[in-house]
Amino acid sequence: MNVVVVGAQWGDEGKGKLIDILSEHADITVRYQGGNNAGHTVVVGEKEYIFHLIPSAILHKKKVCVIGNGVVIDPKALLGEIEGLKKKKIEVKASQFKISGLAHVVMPYHRILDGLRESKRKTKIGTTGRGIGPCYADKVARCGIRVIDLLNPRILKTKLQDNLAEKNDIFAEVYGQKQFSFASIYKEYLEYGRSLKPYICDTALYLNQAIDSKKSILFEGAQGTFLDIDFGTYPFVTSSNSIVGGVCSGTGVAPTRIDRVIACVKAYTTRVGEGPFPTEFSTGLKEEIRAKGNEFGATTGRPRRCGWFDSVLVRYSVMINGIDDLAIMKLDVLDDLKEIHICTGYRYKGKLFHDFPMDFEVLSNAKPVYERAPGWQSSTRGIRKFEKLPVNAQKYINRLQALLKVRIKYISVGSKRDEFIVR
Ligand code: IMP
Ligand code: MG
Repeated sequence: MNVVVVGAQWGDEGKGKLIDILSEHADITVRYQGGNNAGHTVVVGEKEYIFHLIPSAILHKKKVCVIGNGVVIDPKALLGEIEGLKKKKIEVKASQFKISGLAHVVMPYHRILDGLRESKRKTKIGTTGRGIGPCYADKVARCGIRVIDLLNPRILKTKLQDNLAEKNDIFAEVYGQKQFSFASIYKEYLEYGRSLKPYICDTALYLNQAIDSKKSILFEGAQGTFLDIDFGTYPFVTSSNSIVGGVCSGTGVAPTRIDRVIACVKAYTTRVGEGPFPTEFSTGLKEEIRAKGNEFGATTGRPRRCGWFDSVLVRYSVMINGIDDLAIMKLDVLDDLKEIHICTGYRYKGKLFHDFPMDFEVLSNAKPVYERAPGWQSSTRGIRKFEKLPVNAQKYINRLQALLKVRIKYISVGSKRDEFIVR
């Protein structure tokens, strides 16, 4: 069975935990888009692990982890992550970890350009500054450097020379910055190529052969549907297709070979970075939920913006991703609330919207329409069966299910592996 897990909000839905649980039943876990802008937090026993590029399934011995062609790889960050795991006694062996030769490489000038572009903009995007956007831009502009190029000194040389000829002019003339040295980048990246060589392969071939031999694959989405370059709240988005469609172009596995799509949402909403967020809290609830849910970015440490559950937004995700099952994460964070709101529509200039609006103007000024329900005001953390949840918590979940028209199969009530309900 080949399963995709995507985020149905703005990322940080808790995909890391769900993937950690589901990957026990998968032979191979694959990343298909994004880069080390992502941050997945997994808690095992008393230990917390934060992953940026490597799928968290690496924690399960004997499982294979793959980074597909749709991902952009910062080799320095990747090797740092491998090193970090080694320190925690987790060896990343070549038999267990594969990266696509076709994946594009994040270069030093991408990281710098990310920051420079952001500082020149009047409306900030709130980028994580990892060089992800500029790297994808070069991929589309056909001047990117791919992982496989790091193994061929002659090709790397020509490509890097071409890039620097253009980029050094831009850096000097447009940004008044000092120029990049060919020699040092060339040397540094050839070295990365040598370190990564054992892991590099044709991952599309590897995955399709694995499917032929009845292996099961878990595709691990990064970010979330509303950070998707096409369907997200553009331009406040990331530069890849974080929706389920990204799987096919980002791994070379065809849609006919995908069996199930599972999406993750939080029991409320968060967003890190700039951009519209209709249900964002304006009151002290913001601090309360942020503290209880530990809502700080796993990559940048920035405080996340918090708000009520938005069924307009998630219903759109259910459609775009063809979601079969939904996982509601962090339900326990709402345990103490007296009253809970669910957004069921937006109002803009007297008009009621039940579907996610395309017009940025509408979205930015939309006033959410709320349904209110009493909270349950008791702890859900020890509960392992849906029927044992407080009645008001069951009602909340059932109401979301009705509004979203999708089955809610998983409910998470804490950060640990076993704080989890399967319906
Ligand atoms: P970038 O992809 O680093 O350029 O960031 C673009 C936008 O996506 C910013 O608002 C980031 O905060 C957001 N973003 C990128 N990666 C993640 C993630 O893994 N979780 C949540 N937000 C993210
Ligand atoms: Mg995250």
